Amino acid sequence: MSDLKIFSSDISVNGKRVIVRSDLNVPINNSKIDDDTRIKVIEPFVNKLIENKAKVILLSHLGRPKGKVVSELSLKPIFNYLEKKLNGKIYFYQEKIDSKAVDASNKLKPGEVLLFENIRFFKEEEGDEETFAKNLSRLGDIYINEAFSCSHRKQASIHKITRFIDSYGGPLLEKEIQSINLIIKNKKKPVTCIIGGSKVSTKINILSSLSKKADNLVIVGAMANNFLKFKGINVGKSLIEEGSENIVKNINTLAAKNKCNIIIPVDWNTSSSVNGDPVYKSLKDMGSEDMILDIGKSTIDLISKTIDNSNTVFWNGPAGYYENKNFSTGTLSIANKIAENTKSKSLISIVGGGDTVAAIKNAGLENVFTHLSTAGGAFLESLEGKELPGIKVLKKN
Ligand code: 3PG
Repeated sequence: MSDLKIFSSDISVNGKRVIVRSDLNVPINNSKIDDDTRIKVIEPFVNKLIENKAKVILLSHLGRPKGKVVSELSLKPIFNYLEKKLNGKIYFYQEKIDSKAVDASNKLKPGEVLLFENIRFFKEEEGDEETFAKNLSRLGDIYINEAFSCSHRKQASIHKITRFIDSYGGPLLEKEIQSINLIIKNKKKPVTCIIGGSKVSTKINILSSLSKKADNLVIVGAMANNFLKFKGINVGKSLIEEGSENIVKNINTLAAKNKCNIIIPVDWNTSSSVNGDPVYKSLKDMGSEDMILDIGKSTIDLISKTIDNSNTVFWNGPAGYYENKNFSTGTLSIANKIAENTKSKSLISIVGGGDTVAAIKNAGLENVFTHLSTAGGAFLESLEGKELPGIKVLKKN
């Protein structure tokens, strides 16, 4: 940590333009913010900069518009939200990042904020393009990466921008790195990793890496369907990723070699549609029309026992389609069990990922875990022991 350039209050921001790359990638439906956790966590820092008379330039992405303007992925709802929450005047900038944008940043008065439209509306952002990064850097005098959760992305506003401007990590980024490193260093065996989500192919590296390090690897969410199918279990109409057989085979082989116990669901709550009512199914009564949408009670028991026998638990990704309350039981049971054991048995628990955090917040458990990370992919890549590109560029030399 000490090798990173971290922003401190000794650095005067009075009258300076301070670019804050934040992660305002929150779930929005029909212009309504469904979960504001990621916005709330940056508010104190931005308010501090306002108090210290900085001109704040806020940059963020939302979703994956792939270099095109997608109106549903506009940051306008976030602008409306911040307008009510910040202690300074905020403006919204929706034009190109050019000399006019630089003028707009210069025209800000100390203590004012300029929020830029979704940075991924420009294809150069994901391409980590040099000229674009340079133009971005001209918006400020200092750059602060306050988006640990995006730091696994080699993208212009995270990565290449740091070549052209005095750059620092922000307090939230520092806290995330410190907590994750500390827990990885101090973890106590047995270690259990619970990984959910839908796509096994996006998590191959983490599953392979965890199967070498963990004692138990619990696989839930739609991703588990691929492991069930591989075992010859009927998964009906459930979400399956075509061509995942080799991935599953390799992970199973790696786990067996490293004596890591892979745990997959043994019963389910199903329905014929994601908006339907839950129908309980055990192994023997799964039908061809059934869609797995949550883990069942025996699986919950199995996971609870595994948590009871663990001293460290890492968890990322919901156990089912928790957006429909009918299928949130599995996710909430895991959250409650980890929370209970963290409180009563000094379990070391680290929980991460946008969806997982949203589920935990709904259950009112956000302050119970050893560490709750707002990061998804960045959190997993840190667990793998990878150096994140957005962090590497913040090193002192
Ligand atoms: C996240 O939600 O994990 C971050 O905002 C990064 O988003 P991305 O996976 O689209 O890069």
